Amino acid sequence: MKNTNGIELMKDGKRLDGRKPDELRKITMKTGVLKRASGSAYVEWGKNKVVAGVYGPRQLHPKFMQNPTRAMVRCIYNLAPFSVDDRKKPGPDRRSMEISKVSTEALENVILAEKFPNATIDIFVEVLQADAGTRCVGLTAASLALADAGIPMKDMVAACAAGKVQGQIVLDLMKEEDNFGESDLPVAVIPRRKEVVLLQMDGKLSREEFSKALNLAVEGAMQVYEIQKKAILEGAGGRI
Ligand code: CDP
Repeated sequence: MKNTNGIELMKDGKRLDGRKPDELRKITMKTGVLKRASGSAYVEWGKNKVVAGVYGPRQLHPKFMQNPTRAMVRCIYNLAPFSVDDRKKPGPDRRSMEISKVSTEALENVILAEKFPNATIDIFVEVLQADAGTRCVGLTAASLALADAGIPMKDMVAACAAGKVQGQIVLDLMKEEDNFGESDLPVAVIPRRKEVVLLQMDGKLSREEFSKALNLAVEGAMQVYEIQKKAILEGAGGRI
């Protein structure tokens, strides 16, 4: 069955890349990839390639912005000009500012910022290659980099999207599904409590579809969490 754009995204219950509806793309993670950062991580997730670097906690300047009760957390998301098919104009735009804002808010839920008065914790997410779901990959890489930096946190943040493609609820949309599918629902959770810290939606879903997609995305994020934990363990040489 083709959708309204004349593109067949599902055939015999399988997706364009052969995945089942509830299957994640292949994910690999590595910590400690940047020499000058306090902590860092590199995540390949399908065709997405994302690096995250954490700087700090360090004293916040200018001084008038300092908070004597807690550190400022800033997550800056950037899509590299060469990361997408049509060259992206360098520098911040509305989309990257939005993703930076929601990512910062998601991470503020886990970072124990009160331990670092007057400080700032800066997290840079650089998307080197994009193929849909980059805000989820970025958040996953950011929390891994925070763990690598030894920043005290309540838990990690793990993320994954679900959506609707040719009438079916599917996990972890890739580019073609994101472009030509009906809906995309990126979700980030604090895995230990399954508490949602980011929830956005593109397109339309019925109540039932929304609930199914949300559950699927949370379960996807729980699988991502398992891979994060392995990467942290490997980064520490299995010492924790
Ligand atoms: O990446 P994510 O799904 O979190 O965000 P999006 O705004 O839904 O973007 C979906 C995808 O569109 C990105 O992952 C890129 O592959 C692509 N994109 C692009 O080709 N050019 C842009 N300027 C922005 C996004």
